Order: sequence, then structure tokens, then C-alpha cells
Amino acid sequence: MSATINGRSQAIQPGERLIDVVNRSGVEIPQVCYHPQLGPIQTCDTCMVEVDGKLVRACGTLAADGMNVVTSSPRADAAQREAFDRILGNHLLYCTVCDNNNGNCTVHNTTSLLHVEHQEIPYKPKPYEVDLSNPFYRYDPDQCILCGRCVEACQNLQVNETLSINWEAPHPRVLWDGGAPIGESSCVSCGHCVTVCPCNALMEKSMLGEAGYFTSLPKPALNGMIDVVKGVEPELGYGSILQISEVEAAMRESHIKRTKTVCTYCGVGCSFDIWTKDRHILKVEPAHGPANGVSTCIKGKFGWDYVNSPDRLTKPLIREGDAFREASWDEALTLAARRFAEIKAATGPDSLAFISSSKCTNEESYLMQKLARAVIGTNNMDNCSRYCQAPATTGLFRTVGYGGDSGSISDIENAGLVLIVGSNTAESHPVLATRVKRAHKMRGQKLIVSDLRENEMARRADVFLHPRPGTDLIWLSAVTRYILDNGLADQAFIHKWVNGAGEYEKSLEPFTFEMASQRCGIPIETLTKVAHMIVEADGVCILWAMGVTQHTMGSDTSTAISNLLLATGNYMRTGTGAYPLRGHNNVQGASDHGAMPNFFPGYQKVEDPEIRAKFEKAWNVSLPSKPGLDNHMMIDAIHDGRLKAMYVFGEEMSIVDSNANYVGDALSKLDFFVMQEIFFSETCRFADVILPASPSLEKEGTFTSTERRIQRLYQALEPLGESRPDWEIIQDIANRLGADWKYEHPSQIYEEIAPLTPMMAGVTYERLEGYKSLQWPVAEDGSDQPLLYTKQFKFPDGKATFFPVPWSEPTDQQDAEFDLHLNNGRLLEHFHEGNMTYRTEGIREKTPCTFVEVSPELAADRGIQTGSWVQLTSRYGKVRVQAVITTRVHGKELYMPMNSVDEPVNRLTSSHTDKVTHTPAYKETSVQLRVLGETGENPLPPTNSRFGHPTPQNGVEVERKWKRKDYREPGNQLVHIQTH
Ligand code: SF4
Ligand code: SF4
Ligand code: SF4
Ligand code: FES
Repeated sequence: MSATINGRSQAIQPGERLIDVVNRSGVEIPQVCYHPQLGPIQTCDTCMVEVDGKLVRACGTLAADGMNVVTSSPRADAAQREAFDRILGNHLLYCTVCDNNNGNCTVHNTTSLLHVEHQEIPYKPKPYEVDLSNPFYRYDPDQCILCGRCVEACQNLQVNETLSINWEAPHPRVLWDGGAPIGESSCVSCGHCVTVCPCNALMEKSMLGEAGYFTSLPKPALNGMIDVVKGVEPELGYGSILQISEVEAAMRESHIKRTKTVCTYCGVGCSFDIWTKDRHILKVEPAHGPANGVSTCIKGKFGWDYVNSPDRLTKPLIREGDAFREASWDEALTLAARRFAEIKAATGPDSLAFISSSKCTNEESYLMQKLARAVIGTNNMDNCSRYCQAPATTGLFRTVGYGGDSGSISDIENAGLVLIVGSNTAESHPVLATRVKRAHKMRGQKLIVSDLRENEMARRADVFLHPRPGTDLIWLSAVTRYILDNGLADQAFIHKWVNGAGEYEKSLEPFTFEMASQRCGIPIETLTKVAHMIVEADGVCILWAMGVTQHTMGSDTSTAISNLLLATGNYMRTGTGAYPLRGHNNVQGASDHGAMPNFFPGYQKVEDPEIRAKFEKAWNVSLPSKPGLDNHMMIDAIHDGRLKAMYVFGEEMSIVDSNANYVGDALSKLDFFVMQEIFFSETCRFADVILPASPSLEKEGTFTSTERRIQRLYQALEPLGESRPDWEIIQDIANRLGADWKYEHPSQIYEEIAPLTPMMAGVTYERLEGYKSLQWPVAEDGSDQPLLYTKQFKFPDGKATFFPVPWSEPTDQQDAEFDLHLNNGRLLEHFHEGNMTYRTEGIREKTPCTFVEVSPELAADRGIQTGSWVQLTSRYGKVRVQAVITTRVHGKELYMPMNSVDEPVNRLTSSHTDKVTHTPAYKETSVQLRVLGETGENPLPPTNSRFGHPTPQNGVEVERKWKRKDYREPGNQLVHIQTH
């Protein structure tokens, strides 16, 4: 198929937008409101072209075979100019003193493209104040061209549904919640709107007065300069004025550095450019991220102040009695190496243990496990996936072979049905959630959510299941049994691809709907409906997280999820599969790169003599053959006196591990403890030596996201003070212990990893250049696998396996004394305990502390109000916290977010674990609640987005603009929207 663009033939794809065809052809046309990731908005009218003699918007027209398109006919040209003139009536061109004049301003560039010299419609300010009420960005109505990109992004991409435009008003503008101040609206500060705004109407506050050479001038001086520009415009024309601003924009390039990086918070793997001026972070600019495009959440967009926090550790510290003193690197490293060597000599290598950071890079995890294994000689090596993800990995190892998501985020978006089990996706994996919300809203994707809490996804779901705590395995197995019993399973798929059907079907015998209904508290009709929705859907993806894994049956419930997918043939094609949502930015990568007690990098077993021989040869050492201690076993081993020393980096172990009091007691018993951190964390209190490390912006390396996507991060800033990248520190310790490592750059570490690790065989820094990424397994030739199972499963015969799983009662049950169930998890604004996010003032302002959610029923029963102080006591510890009454929780179920260092929820959680992986059963906690008789303010301030009132609609609703009496399509009789 082809179309003719200005007389030249251009190939077209079915369903392609005309504007994309024109752009591909190299012909330049104005297109102010168009953004490829948002689709046609059709508000600006600047993309008018002639198609077969008729004026059309190129963005709103589909290309068709044989189309004759003329982009610069007199009519098209006049229409484009008219439309843009109307835009200039809404926007003052003061580019030289504008912080958005950085070469990428759409309004500036369109003025240039159209060679605009003078405007017909004079600029008129709008009768509204600038809104500065959000801590991170501002809205200037006077500069707003009403393109609606922000509204489209908020309504249909982020799907927070906060923004709209009041098209019927005399002076339209963008509205938050229909007219609230931004800071009091439902805005979650994800930044989508700011990112896509084509001009300076929405801008990051961190840019204001910082980006330009003249933009920090006081307001009167700025206004004076703007007046001068306005004064000379009639004589000079915009051409000369723009030239000056372009020179100034070019000068900015010398002081603004744009560095591609990868978000260091959750496992979604958002990537973006970070703009810095010296150490000042100007803004985060997402555009081409393979996982996120223009999307971010509040943390990735605005949560970077921790990097410059005065609390950063900048010098090594050595314990002296109960205090610490500053030390030189040489002294600290020598002491660390000497004590490790002494302890190894006295009590053997297995009396030392190592914990790698899921916040740090793949290369750093690789070096940490190499230090443990090759230099010390122990497999006592783990990472925090033990706290969350190991059970999901086990469930997948058992059934399909690889411990990773079976597809990409785009597969989740393409599914006919998404089933979310035990995941607060909108808060824990916000950008991934936007893809589900978007597909649900725009494409009619079906959504089923199983959770204790009515979180945002639950409220959006077509079916919300609220099973009794710890019973997901039962209803999942019962639904699978019903599907098999009623001839609804995909028998052709099972026959061809799955082993063990007979034994598995027998194992399902106890899981009748009656039993499930009685145990889970879910009506049989609902279970029946869920089963039919699953079999009728064109592709099912199941997403799950810690609501599943942090149970004594975490591995078994994960297995039940995969069994259900196998029974219904929901593997091996796009829009299907299993998606354990990885928590930290690099929790997937830490395990992939060998930070585990039983695996070398690439899940190669330490017990396998052939594998061991390969690593022994490469590292020129002999290696221990028995799996080491995982981090749960390490704590017990310290209490037992078997473990004497630890080296931990980037892990707040003392409060994120379960049963925090027990963990703290253990850490205080260590003979020698080295912590490597960016802040003096709670865990640092137990250390003997503290080594100051550099966060992601100060180093290079790679992260692996939840979709197995390996991405490079580049160095944006120099390490602060004397802090250093973790890989350099680990190397120094190894060398002081006798190793002879000579890595000068993380790429050299990867050159060592790739040939030793079949899963990563083709990973090179060149193949990951810029925004390029690879989803493992990566073959030697560099081909990767966005969809994990296409030709076979990862078992010798290529088939998957049904894996029978029984159910058992959860631990730490309620009784007369501990009568309430306590659930816990993340909050959107904070990452875990908040060590990083609390250092961003705007986040602190919106969400200053933790709280416990109490149901209205329980509140009425116990006389609790929002703001009441209560004491929660479990069998393991107690915390004091304020209550928030909410219908998100029901009955005698409480929810406490993890965002506290002072009163961490893990003082209450137990040492019970998943039977297979030792992942703590954080979600099986019973407590008693005592009202302390003191009531304060609501711990969530009124400016928190949870109190907003969204205004859902389908995008910007441009038809309402077209219905205005003063609107005519340009090219006919143009009348602009009045702004005065
Ligand atoms: S939620 Fe707030 S920051 Fe995000 S797109 Fe909507 S208005 Fe913008
Ligand atoms: S604020 Fe919204 S409508 Fe106004 S110019 Fe920016 S993106 Fe367009
Ligand atoms: S925290 Fe997660 S969703 Fe938010 S920007 Fe970072 S990677 Fe993306
Ligand atoms: S780009 Fe087509 S109407 Fe704005």
C-alpha cells in the first residue's frame, strides 16, 4: 500500500495514521498537539493537509492506499498558519527568558518552522493565577495553549483522571478535579502532564529560574525584558527574536547535562534522561524508555533529592565504643579485610556471610558473590529477593522452567483479561499499572483483582475477590478444577505442552467450589463467573506480588497460579503468561547474577560439579560445593554462634527483614559487621565499619527490570564527597584479601559475566547503548526473548509441568488475645521504609508518616477515629501509630504501610517463612489493638491525593471544543477562542 505525499510515493502500513506517514517521509508539517504515544488529540488544527482536495487533520486521519496528500498547498499552508496564530493568541513568546527554551519547545520550534514573523491574533492573558500549589510543578494558564496533551495523558495514559478542560467556559483552561487547586486535587504527581506539555505552561519547579542564563532574574526585571521583546516585535519580527533565543538555548547546552538513566525505585524499569546543572537536578525527562515511554510515577519523576541530601555518607566510619569516627578509605578497607581474614582463619569461611543490594547494579551483585565464593570461599550469599520474590521464582521453576516474567509489559497490555492477585499494582508498580488501567478503560480489557484491600485496581476491577487471608491457593485451585472438570480447559495445549496432568487433576480433588467458598468466603457464583471469564478471554496474564509470596504457602500459591495458566493454555503467545511483579529496580538482576546461596550467575547450581569446574577455571580458585545460608538462615546462624561476620551493601536489613527485634538482636551479636550504604541507615547502627557508597546517578552499570529487561545507566554526577561506586569498594576489599581484580569499568565486569552465563551470553554494553535493551535469555548473537516461551518450556523435553500443591493453614492465626489480622505493603509515594523518598521534601509534605488503616466497622466497635493513636502488639513486638478510618479495609483486617523507620511494621511480623524458600510470612500477622486515648490530626494531610475527586472522561473531549460557537475549522472562517 502506498500514498503520495507532495508528489512522492510513500509506503504505508494498514491502520497507520497519516501524520506518522508524513513524518516518516521526511516532510515537515506543524503538529503541536500530536504526540505519538498519546495518539491524535485533534485540538490544535496545525497539522491540516489536503487529501484528495479536502482539508483534513493529518493526525486524525488514517492513511489509505492511493491517497494523494499535499502538505503545503496554499489552502493547507493557510490553515496551518491560522491554527498556529490562534495558539500564539494564548501564549507569549518570551523564549530567551523562558526555562523551557532548551531546543525542544514545540511552540518555539513551530514558530520557527512556519517562519512566523508577526501574529494576527494578539496575545491575551487569561483571567487566572499561576497555580503553584503542587510541590513539584506549576501551571501557568497564561502560557497554556489548550492543546490538551496533559489531559489526554492524565485521563487515558496514566488514567488518574484528574485533568479536564472546561471547553464551554468563556476562558477555557486546564482543570484539576474540575477546578480544585492542584495541591488539593487527586493529582498523584506522576508528572505525565508536565512531560508531555509542549511548552512552559506546565513545568517542573526544579527548572524554574535554573535552566536559562536570564531566567533567574527577579520578576520585575524579567517582565521588563518581556516588554522590550514585545516592543521590538512589530519592527523586527519573530525571526530575529527567535534567533537570539536560539543562541541562548545553544549556550545552555554547556551547562545542562542530559544523562540517560534507569529508575532506582521499583522493578518496572522506567528509563529517562535526567537533566543536571552541576549537582542540581533540573528535571527527569522520559521519552523513549522501552518499558515506560513518557511515563513515570512520583518517585521516578520527582524523587531524586536524596542524592544531594546533607545526610549522605561521604566518609568511611569506624566504630569506637558506642560511637563512630571518620576514617580514611585506606584505614577502613584495611580493617575490613584484616577482620574478614582473621575470622575466616579462626572459624572458617562459612562463618562469614554476604548480602547484595537489589538497588545496586548487576555488575555489583556479580562482584559480591565472586568475593564470597572465590575470595572468602563460602556460598553464604543472598539478596532481598528472599524477602519477596523467591517463592514466585520457585513456582515458575517448578512449572515452566525460568524464574522470570513470561512476557513484557506490552503483553500485559494486550491481554484479554488481567488477573491481579495480592498486588497493590497502582501503588507498587505504578507505571505498569497505567498500562492495565489504560487497556481496561480504552480497550475493554477485563480485570479481576483478588486482594484483602480494596486498592485502586480492586475498585476498577470487573470482579473484586476478597478471600480470607492466606487462602488464594484454594480459590485458584478450585477455579482450575472447575475448568478441568467442565471440559473448559485447553486440552490441545495440555496434551502438546504439559506433563503430569493425571496426577495433578487427582491432587485437585479437595478443591471443590463448596470447599473454596467456605474457606475463602467467596460466593460460588463469583467463582463460577471468574472461571468463565478466564476461559472466555482472549489471552490471560496473571500478575502477583507480595500478597501471594509473603505467606507460608508463597511458593505453592505461585505454583497454583502457573498451573491455572497451563490448564487454560495461557502461555506461549502474546497477551498471556505469568508476571510476578519484581519489587526493587534490580531484584531480578541481583538473583540473575548469582547473589544467591545455591546459584552461580544465571541460576547455575553451585552443587553441579561441571558448573563449578567452569567457574573454578575462570576464577582460578577452588569453590565450595554446598549451598550456603540464605538471609533468613543467616539470622538464625548468628543467634546460634555459627556466623561471626557479615558484609552487607545497600540493604536496610534490620527493619525490612521480618521480626525486626529478632534480626536486630542478631546483628548486635556479630563479631564484625561491614555496612556499605549511602545513608546512616538503621542497619548501620549495628556496624563496625561503614563504607560510603554512591547511588545510581553517580555510577555506571546495568539493571534488570521485572520484564527481564537489561538496561544501562550512565553516570550523571560525580560521587559525593569521598563516596564511591559499590563495585569499586567491593573490588578493593577483594584485592586486600589477596584477589587480583583489575576492573576499571563495569563493562569489563560484564565481559566476564557473559561467557560464564549462558542466559546472558550475548549481553554487551554496545548492545545496550543508550535506550537499547535486551530481555534475557540473550543468545550469543545478541537475539533476546521478549516473550519467554515461544518454541518450548525450559525443561529437557521442552514441556511444562503441572505441579500439585496442597493447602495448609496459615501461621500466626488470630485468637482471643491477638484478634486482628495485620496486612502490610507499600505506598505510592514512598519506597519501602522511605530511606530515599523521605529525603524529598514534596513527598514528605504529601505523605509525612505511616499509619494504620482501620475499617469503619472496627473503628465504630473500638471507638477509634481518624488520627487516634493506637498501639499494635503482635506476638513479636509492638508499634505506636495513628489510625486512618477507610473502607479500603474490611472488618477485622488492618493495613499498615511500610514507610516508617521509627515504628516499622516489621517489629510486628514473625519469623515464620514460606516452607520452600524461607521468605518471611510477613502477611500472616495477628495483632491486638489498644486505643491510647490520644487523637491527633489525620496522619494523611488534606493535600494528599487520596482526598481528591477525579473527573473521569475519555481524554480531552475535543468535540466539545468543536461545538463552541466561536470555533471554525481553520481554512474556512477562523475565529479563535476568546481569552479575554
Ligand atoms: S496525576 Fe497529576 S501529575 Fe499525573 S498526569 Fe494527572 S495531573 Fe499530571
Ligand atoms: S498545560 Fe496542557 S493544555 Fe496547556 S499547553 Fe500544556 S499540555 Fe497543553
Ligand atoms: S518507581 Fe517504578 S514506576 Fe515509578 S518511575 Fe521508577 S521504575 Fe517507574
Ligand atoms: S497535531 Fe493534528 S490537530 Fe494538533
